[in-house]
Amino acid sequence: MSSELITVAYLIAGILFILSLGGLSSQQSAKRGNFYGIAGMALAMAVTALHPAVTGYAVLVPTIAVGGFIGAILAARVAMTSMPELVAILHSFVGAAAVLVGIASYLDPHQSQQGVALLIHEVEVFVGVFIGAVTFTGSVVAFGKLRGTIGSKAWSLPGRNYWNLAMLALAGYLGTQFVGQENHAGLSFLLLMTALASLFGVLMVMAIGGADMPVVVSMLNSYSGWAAAAAGFMLGNDLLIITGALVGSSGAILSYIMCAAMNRSFFNVIFGSFGGSSPQSSGRTQEEQGEVEAVTSSEAAEMLGDAQNIVIVPGYGMAVAQAQSPLYEVVKKLRARGAHIRFAIHPVAGRLPGHMNVLLAEAKVPYDIVLEMDEINDDFSETDLVLVIGANDIVNPSALNDVGSPIYGMPVLECWKAKQTIVMKRSLGSGYAGIDNPLFYETNNRMLFGDAKQNIEEILAELQQVAQAA
Ligand code: TAP
Repeated sequence: MSSELITVAYLIAGILFILSLGGLSSQQSAKRGNFYGIAGMALAMAVTALHPAVTGYAVLVPTIAVGGFIGAILAARVAMTSMPELVAILHSFVGAAAVLVGIASYLDPHQSQQGVALLIHEVEVFVGVFIGAVTFTGSVVAFGKLRGTIGSKAWSLPGRNYWNLAMLALAGYLGTQFVGQENHAGLSFLLLMTALASLFGVLMVMAIGGADMPVVVSMLNSYSGWAAAAAGFMLGNDLLIITGALVGSSGAILSYIMCAAMNRSFFNVIFGSFGGSSPQSSGRTQEEQGEVEAVTSSEAAEMLGDAQNIVIVPGYGMAVAQAQSPLYEVVKKLRARGAHIRFAIHPVAGRLPGHMNVLLAEAKVPYDIVLEMDEINDDFSETDLVLVIGANDIVNPSALNDVGSPIYGMPVLECWKAKQTIVMKRSLGSGYAGIDNPLFYETNNRMLFGDAKQNIEEILAELQQVAQAA
């Protein structure tokens, strides 16, 4: 394939990636966006494989076949609740690839650059391997935290920011020693920096607490893009640079949006209070909080049947229970009886950006009754009933009134302002951030304990019986 044709194909693939990102920005166009992304990647892979410099097809073809097969099986089997873990581990692959490409490119015996070009190449290798190693180990720890293998609580060394600074300074020193060495003699400095950056990635993500994980996931997404862009520079591949920059910058924008949604600064999430310790929640015991009042599913059905203006707040528990389809059946029944029903979506509900929107779209809930937090938060005082289904941290009032709470300052759905709330979950256990929720003890709240799907199905059966009897 001629180099002109390759350039044109890379340009088309780059445009397809931009169209893909544009499409993914709204639910209505997401399928189309996904298609553009698949087409762009297929074109990119085919053109790269047809590059005149590529000759090892005996290795390349089986490798792509095996990788593609494993990827297809994993993607087909993954549950929606495990999607964030899958995304995290895929980020780690990009990081690992950047490290390997960097080391291989440094040791390349055909390397012919001289003078300034060689210096620039060595800097690219060093920076690319650094970002790659941080992305790799950071993503592996994020995978463990999202999977629950590693506790979601923040863990850090005393004075962690001084350690971080010392590690960065040491990496900088190793960089000065690495560049300009003859006959690959800088390899030991490169490998030492790789070990240091790997440790940095582990410590950085370990130190981030449960409630801040959304920012970490989007931040690692951004890092994986920069790692890919760095690999593009090392390999002299323009498309990899463009794609990496698109992923890197869109991940950075997403991190910014997540921080804004949680009212946190990016710096604060990553570095916490410099040299200080985390604030402690006032941590009232269950006795101090008072009693909770439980209802049965038939009582909940009756309350829903009596309410005119209803808001449903879905959370991670709805994803675990897979309750979205029977929930929409309940919504249809209530709407047929004249109730006004809307869904309220918190930006960090569930475990990945847009998690709830995807589930509701899957259940065919119309988009116009699904509202973002900012669009609905002022309406709770005029709401008869709020049904909280498997949500916890996103409806925790301590985010507004407990200065010691780890989520203090994060905007939440202020559902307790409604006349009545019903919280559906299996126990009084805490949510992802590991903190108690005073909402459960509010006098206008009722708890409907048990698996969300089972309870919703019972409510549906109850509403059907009432409809048949009428
Ligand atoms: P959580 O605070 O995690 O609460 C979910 C609740 O669902 C749990 O308390 C659990 O209580 C309940 N639950 C679990 N399985 C259930 C089932 N089968 N039936 C009924 N209830 C069930 O979820 P949230 O309110 O959606 O908040 C999201 C949290 O995740 C935030 O802290 C956020 O920062 C964090 N996070 C978000 C993201 C993104 S990007 N969205 C990424 C990483 C982390 P029981 O065990 O008592 O049933």
